Amino acid sequence: MPVKRGLEDVIAAESSICKVDGNKGRLIYRGYDIDDLAEHSTFEEVVYLLWFGRLPDKAELEKLHKELGANRRIPEEVVKMMKQWPKEAVPMEVLRTATSMLSMYDADSHENDRDANVRKATRLTAQLPTIVAYWDCIRSNRELVDPKPDHSTAASFLHLLHSGKEPDEVSVKSLDVALILHAEHELNASTFAARVAAATLTDMHSAVTAAIGTLKGPLHGGANQEVIKMLLEIGELSKVDSYIKKMFEDHKKLMGFGHRVYKVQDPRAFHLRKMSDKLGRGAGETKWYEMSARIEELAKEEKGLNCNVDFYSASVYYMLGIPRDLFTPIFAISRMSGWAAHILEQLEDNRLIRPEGEYVGKTDLKYVAIEQR
Ligand code: SDX
Repeated sequence: MPVKRGLEDVIAAESSICKVDGNKGRLIYRGYDIDDLAEHSTFEEVVYLLWFGRLPDKAELEKLHKELGANRRIPEEVVKMMKQWPKEAVPMEVLRTATSMLSMYDADSHENDRDANVRKATRLTAQLPTIVAYWDCIRSNRELVDPKPDHSTAASFLHLLHSGKEPDEVSVKSLDVALILHAEHELNASTFAARVAAATLTDMHSAVTAAIGTLKGPLHGGANQEVIKMLLEIGELSKVDSYIKKMFEDHKKLMGFGHRVYKVQDPRAFHLRKMSDKLGRGAGETKWYEMSARIEELAKEEKGLNCNVDFYSASVYYMLGIPRDLFTPIFAISRMSGWAAHILEQLEDNRLIRPEGEYVGKTDLKYVAIEQR
């Protein structure tokens, strides 16, 4: 079988969690279209849908909300360690390291049955936002406040990030929809890493740590931070054309554009574009959206490229006042729910994931003593 570079078009697993229709530009979570979920659902309802395969009733959703709210604190020992880390540590490496540490304080860390893994998935989904928010406070010497159990995931993250300031409704709603849009995306690189790890029957924290490390890469989740860096570098709408044309002349990759699966527009970009425009107008600062829209036009005209989820999420998070090196950690906060769904599914009918390599090296060489080399 010919090697498919990057495993392009290779079907590596059957799954009932998510369908990415690259030709039609559609994204389905457990049978529900992302447009429907972005319009009507909440992140916590989507978490339930991804893990249990159906929408919850009121009592089930309330139970999950309560369990998430009761588990947002992180162990004091982890906070103490975070306070010793260098202030300039990259938030994604802080998230990767602190998440790995959580397993040492998790009562279920050595259990691998479904119930224990659902409990761990709930705790991790509740704790990752706290790690990210606390890190920003620690590195800027701001006060750490206790999570409020009745806050949603989006509200809790913003509340902790801003040291106790109650977040406004528009910001909470915008972030909640962004979390829905980033929750799950079939066998993307970080989810595949989580499944490969889980298939060895290692623990959930190890599989999630592998996923965080994978998401960090700029070809994957790290792209949203590269997008805002580019927008800030360009600075003004009037400078967009020359900047982008030069990037193309230098054959540089345009961050936030292109996709392995989508051959047309990424359906998530539709919602994030709308949100970027709305937030910009609401704040009286429309230039980031206008610049993004012009870049999108040029990318389409010059290279036939469509933007992906990371492009407009950059200006959305920037307009929400989120520090730009927290953009990828926010992606991780959301994708934690998708990683958990895939880990649970992998373990339902597990087999070790172990492909083969096509050997193209030398053969039949005879050993030569070092004196003769
Ligand atoms: C995410 O997989 C997922 O589902 C991921 C994700 C999820 O929800 O989990 O959707 C989230 O990671 C989105 C992608 C974020 N990454 C970026 O925005 C980084 C920039 N994008 C590219 O690096 C690229 O498009 C990838 C990595 C996303 C996809 O890479 P592929 O499928 O390996 O495509 P390729 O690099 O082989 O490119 C094919 C052609 C090339 O042209 P030629 O060299 O053959 O002439 O398209 C060109 C590329 O040069 N191209 C780009 C481009 N993306 C593709 N040219 C300029 N800028 C780009 N962004």
